[in-house]
Amino acid sequence: MPTAARDIPQGNGHSDSLARTVSNSFGTLDLSTSPTATFHSPQSSYGGHQKPSTKQLKPFQTQDVKVLLLENVNKTGQDILRKQGYQVEALKSSLPDDQLIEKIRDVHVIGIRSKTQLRANILKHAKNLIVIGCFCIGTNQVDLQYAAENGICVFNSPFSNSRSVAELMIGEIITLARQLGDRNNELHNGVWNKVSAGCWEVRGKTLGIVGYGHVGSQLSVMAESMGMKVIFYDVVNLMSMGVASPVHTLEELLRQADFVTLHVPEIPETMNMISTAQFDQMKQGAYLLNASRGSVVDIPALIKAMQAGKLAGAALDVYPNEPGGNGEHFTNNLNDFTEDLRKLKNILLTPHIGGSTEEAQSAIGAEVADSLVKYVNLGTTSGAVNMPEVTLRSLTMDEPNHVRVIYIHKNVPGVLRRVNEILGDHNVDKQMTDSRGDVAYLMADISSVNVSEIKDLYQSLEDLGTSLYTGSSTLDGVGR
Ligand SMILES: NC(=O)c1ccc[n+]([C@@H]2O[C@H](COP(=O)([O-])OP(=O)(O)OC[C@H]3O[C@@H](n4cnc5c(N)ncnc54)[C@H](O)[C@@H]3O)[C@@H](O)[C@H]2O)c1
Repeated sequence: MPTAARDIPQGNGHSDSLARTVSNSFGTLDLSTSPTATFHSPQSSYGGHQKPSTKQLKPFQTQDVKVLLLENVNKTGQDILRKQGYQVEALKSSLPDDQLIEKIRDVHVIGIRSKTQLRANILKHAKNLIVIGCFCIGTNQVDLQYAAENGICVFNSPFSNSRSVAELMIGEIITLARQLGDRNNELHNGVWNKVSAGCWEVRGKTLGIVGYGHVGSQLSVMAESMGMKVIFYDVVNLMSMGVASPVHTLEELLRQADFVTLHVPEIPETMNMISTAQFDQMKQGAYLLNASRGSVVDIPALIKAMQAGKLAGAALDVYPNEPGGNGEHFTNNLNDFTEDLRKLKNILLTPHIGGSTEEAQSAIGAEVADSLVKYVNLGTTSGAVNMPEVTLRSLTMDEPNHVRVIYIHKNVPGVLRRVNEILGDHNVDKQMTDSRGDVAYLMADISSVNVSEIKDLYQSLEDLGTSLYTGSSTLDGVGR
C-alpha cells in the first residue's frame, strides 16, 4: 500500500513518530479581501439568488439552523450560509477538544478545514449535527464511517483548485526551460551569469500529461495556447481537449515528451510509477514535474537521473512526508533524501502550494457552502463523501401539500419493504434510494398530506428502529 503524504508536527525531527495524515496546504491561508482582485468567484447557486418558487426542506426553522464554522472559513462560504438566515458563528481558529465538545452539542452544521479533528470521541457529543463541511480537499480529519453510521453527511471540495495547480505547472514549465530558478538564485547571491546554452522556448516542445483529469485537462488547454504539442496518458479513455493526442502507454508518453507532468491520484497503482526504468525511457534532457502526490515519484531515483544529466530539470510540489506547519523543516529529518535534493541544479522545490491561491480558497468556500445549503434545505447528497449520492428535483411552492421525506437508515435486509409499507399508504410522487456500505439513503416526495399525517409518518419511520436520521420538508421542529 502506498503511504499517504504525512503531516509532521512542528519540532518533531524523527520520522518514526510521524502522524499519518494526508497533508494539505490550506491550513493558515488568510482570506482574500483585496479590493484590487480581479477574480470573481464562481457564481453560487445559493448566494442569495435561490428561486423563490423552490420549497426548502426544513427539519428546523431556518433561523434555528445553527452553523459553527472553524479555522477561518472563507468569507464567500460564510456569506452563502448567512444569506440563508442560518445562525452562523464563525471562529478564526480550531478549538481545543473540550471547547469543541461544548460547541458541537447544539449545532446542526459544522464547517472545518484541515486542523479540526472530528473523531468519534467528539462526534458522539453532537446530538443535533446533520452535516459536516470540510472546506478543503482532504477529509481524513473526519471519522467518515462514524459520521455515516450516525446519519451525518460529509462534504468537501476536491476540484476547486484544479486551475491553480494547472497555472503553476505552466509557470514551472517556462521556469525550467529557461533555468530561471538558478539564474534568480545566482543574482540574489551577486553573480551575473548570462547564458543561453541549455535554455529553450517551450513553443513546439511536447508536453506529456500523465493523468488527464481535472488538473491535467486544464493544463492541456493552456499548454496548447503557448504552442506546445500535448500528448496524454490516462487509464480511462477520455476525450481530448483541443488537438491533444492520447497515447496508449506510459512508456510511449515518456519516450516522446520533452516535459512530463504527473496528475494522477495516490493509489497503489501510482506508487513510484516514475522510477529508474521510467527515467531511462525518458528523452535525454527532458524535464519532470510532479504536483500530484509525493509517493508517485521515486525521488532517490530522480536525484540519480538528475545527477547523471539524464534530466535537464524537475519541479516537485509534493513529497512523501510533509511538515504539518511552516518553518525550517525541509531537512533529512523529513525525508532522508532532502539534502541531496536541495543541492541539485534547475530543480524547483515548492511546499505543496499547487492549489494555494485566493481564488481556490474562495471557490472552495462557495462549493462547500452550496453543498451544505442543498443538503439542509433539499436533502440532496450530490458530492457527499460518506453517503450515497441521492437527488430529486426540488419541490415547488405550487405543491403546497407535498412533503419530502428523508430517511437515512441502516442497510439491513427487509428495511425497504417495511419503509414502503409505511409510504405506500400515501401518494408517493417520486422516490429514490441508494446505499453505500451499511448506510442507505431514501428520499421520497409525497403529495396530498397534512401536518398530522406527516407526524404519523415520521413516527412510523422512527419506530422501525433502523433510522439514522429522519427529516421532512414541512415539519418544523423535527430534529434528531
Ligand atoms: N499540489 C497540490 O496542491 C494539488 C492540488 C490539487 C490536486 N492535487 C493532486 O493532483 C492529482 C490530480 O488531481 P485531479 O483533481 O486532476 O484528479 P482527477 O481525479 O480529476 O484526475 C486524475 C486522473 O488520473 C487518472 N489516472 C488514475 N490512475 C492512473 C494511472 N495509473 N495512470 C494514468 N492515469 C491515471 C484518472 O483516470 C484521472 O483521469 C491528485 O493526486 C491530487 O491529489 C495536488
